[in-house]
Amino acid sequence: TQTFSIASIPGDGIGGEVVAAGLRVLDTIAKQSEGAVEFDVTEFPWSSEYYLKNGHYIPEGGLEELQKHDAIYFGAVGTADVPDHTSLWGLRLAITQPFDQWANIRPVTFLPGVQSPLRKADDTELDWIVVRENSEGEYAGMGGRNLSGRGPGNEVALQTSLHTEKGCERIIRFAFDLARTREVKKVSSVTKSNAQQYGMVLWDEVFARVAQDYPDVETESVLVDAMSAKFVLHPEQLSVVVASNLHADILSDLGSALAGSLGLAASANLNPDRRFPSMFEPVHGSAPDIAGQGISNPIGAISSAALMLDEFGLHTEADRVRKAIENATGAGILPRDLGGESNTVEMTEAIVTQLEAIHAEQPVPA
Ligand code: NAD
Ligand code: IPM
Ligand code: MN
Repeated sequence: TQTFSIASIPGDGIGGEVVAAGLRVLDTIAKQSEGAVEFDVTEFPWSSEYYLKNGHYIPEGGLEELQKHDAIYFGAVGTADVPDHTSLWGLRLAITQPFDQWANIRPVTFLPGVQSPLRKADDTELDWIVVRENSEGEYAGMGGRNLSGRGPGNEVALQTSLHTEKGCERIIRFAFDLARTREVKKVSSVTKSNAQQYGMVLWDEVFARVAQDYPDVETESVLVDAMSAKFVLHPEQLSVVVASNLHADILSDLGSALAGSLGLAASANLNPDRRFPSMFEPVHGSAPDIAGQGISNPIGAISSAALMLDEFGLHTEADRVRKAIENATGAGILPRDLGGESNTVEMTEAIVTQLEAIHAEQPVPA
């Protein structure tokens, strides 16, 4: 038996229900393996409610606890009772930063049966991946407030972007290596180097240098404003899109909306050096507007669990989960945000049913 230990952190809002959905799917995968694969899940109750009670999201020794696991499965964090910057720096970024999860991959996947706002909506061939620099850039957490020292009405705040040559290089190389595994071997680099003449120019220079090591990969450099238009008008030209922390954050929400909804987008925060566990989570947040109703779309969280299976080397199983999602949406079973009627549990069970059908046809070889 291969056992994988998973730390689950449901967090806030819809985090709990979508994490439960992903774990239900993993449970099905384990059962179908007939003992070959086992997932040992430990839940950590770190949420905003927990913070309000205890004064911290992650208790002392918490990171050491997480470190003992093969992967972290995360829901979302954020509520009306805690400032967003407190919750994010207290939980999500408090894991991605110390665990040096510097590569965030966010596939933009078009599913059968799902209406896209794009004119090319019938083109289910569209498929690209946003590679997000996940350790520095605009999320370096550097800056300060009231720097003028001159009192009310004169406050000055500084929010600094940090770009290091090593940080740029490792994410750009990651993007090229990923492009090599894809049918369309192309990397689009995104910056704003016309306006941001230091960090983004460094990025552009590193990109041009690294590209020389990958003569078999096509490249382009596109400014972020133009790239947002390209996402809408010429998505067929995209394969791997690499961008800084904030630019890729924005572009990945745009990509998921183009594919139909924020609710279906998956994400993996990877520590490719494998010194620390990686963290898998849907792209979306805690969705306070629909929290507690049981109607959230579980597809983003379930596809993130598929990325976790990939990380475990269980590629056949990961592909089956993706296929089960496609079969479910292709059969017209859709959650509310995609115009359907299924609630979270119904959508999840529909995917499990498809997994069972796939398994009945062809059991996973032990
Ligand atoms: P959000 O992603 O939570 O919600 C944006 C919109 O998309 C809402 O209308 C929501 O209902 C909808 N939506 C999101 N996920 C959905 C799903 N699975 N099914 C159906 N609809 C879904 O973004 P927001 O409103 O900007 O942020 C809400 C809170 O979440 C904030 O506190 C924010 O800081 C936090 N947040 C956390 C994370 C994270 O933990 N990784 C990510 C993004 C936002
Ligand atoms: C995401 C979120 C987070 C991010 C926020 C909530 C800090 O938007 O995971 O995309 O920007 O990293
Ligand atoms: Mn985001």
